[in-house]
Amino acid sequence: MSLQLWTHARVATLAADATEPYGLIDEAALVVEGEHLLWVGEASKIPADLLERCDVLHDAGGALITPGLIDCHTHLVYGGDRAHEFELRLQGASYEDIAKAGGGIASTVRATRAATAAELELASAKRLQALINEGVTTIEIKSGYGLALEHERKTLSVARALGGSHAVDVRNTFLGAHAVPPEYAGRADDYVDAVLQMLPVLHAEGLVDAVDGFCERIAFSTAQMERVFQAAQALGVRVKLHAEQLSDSGGAQLAARYQALSCDHLEWLSPAGAQAMATSGSVAVLLPGAFYFLRETRVPPIELLRKHGVPMAVSTDCNPGSSPCTSLLLMLNMACTLFRLTPEEALAGVTRHAAAALGLTDRGVLAAGQRADFVLWDVQHPAQLCYALGANPRIQTIFKGQPV
Ligand code: NIG
Ligand code: FE
Repeated sequence: MSLQLWTHARVATLAADATEPYGLIDEAALVVEGEHLLWVGEASKIPADLLERCDVLHDAGGALITPGLIDCHTHLVYGGDRAHEFELRLQGASYEDIAKAGGGIASTVRATRAATAAELELASAKRLQALINEGVTTIEIKSGYGLALEHERKTLSVARALGGSHAVDVRNTFLGAHAVPPEYAGRADDYVDAVLQMLPVLHAEGLVDAVDGFCERIAFSTAQMERVFQAAQALGVRVKLHAEQLSDSGGAQLAARYQALSCDHLEWLSPAGAQAMATSGSVAVLLPGAFYFLRETRVPPIELLRKHGVPMAVSTDCNPGSSPCTSLLLMLNMACTLFRLTPEEALAGVTRHAAAALGLTDRGVLAAGQRADFVLWDVQHPAQLCYALGANPRIQTIFKGQPV
């Protein structure tokens, strides 16, 4: 098989065991075999026999190379938009007020149900392309605006189709327990029964890679979520949870009992919740876009997460209600500015730890054996990716060994 050699690069491997910050290697080389990395290190140390076999040579022109970015929490496939609610909030209504008055998630459910698969795909492809343009090579897409079998299926099928038509890997998450749909108003437990019926069907159709829920006073209780988690566990599907976003409901402890891949949002995470996440190895997915857009004032307890060694990921939460955001680079800046992550933590949050939040072990760092998903950037130092607001210094993306 032909081997590709990339030289004249600074590489930020983001490897967990690196001795240099960001795993930085000056004058680095990468050897790609097919869809994977065969060798990564200092160019001067490349074994002679390997060098001899490299028949395709690339000059990175001094670019910084990072792993392909991973957006590990999005609701990218939805119908309509919520610009009108944005206006209402500027007149004083709160996110919870709007949800209680039948707007919020319910209004996106109406628009998503009304849209055909083709319409959803067209609208969502634009958002996906914006993320790909910033170096995203893996993205998670949740359902949760269908809330009925045919519409959850439509959403998850569109997500799969987007993965097929774009140079990006899509991971599907079934978020049937996102909100109680209008036809089940006042009957949340009955709707949970319906979710338990949808899950095995969608799973059998190959549409579900993970299961998520919204555990909150305006959504589902821990007892209701536990039923969903039990059903996921019975199918051998890993779980995640929107937890402690607007209040401390003990969702993190529940999720930890089910070895959740991640707990997401976490503004109200308690010390006991952080301890539970550390024990279960769950990743804390931080969503500064939602924090910013909802004008939250309570920052996730970063110091507590650090103290317990809970890995932190950073994501867009791309959705029409709380984070209409299609820039993961902007999230890097906001994670640092609003949440006080270091740039190195933020970058690990969109690479290594984002992979872990999706249960993926073959990407997120640049090392031999990993997928050859990487990005060339027109910057000198990785901190510049976090520092700039609204810049996109991407030069080129390599996805599974091939230029995008
Ligand atoms: O992640 N928290 C729940 N779900 C979304 C918001 C959904 C919406 O408002 O449409 C979130 O913030
Ligand atoms: Fe979300």
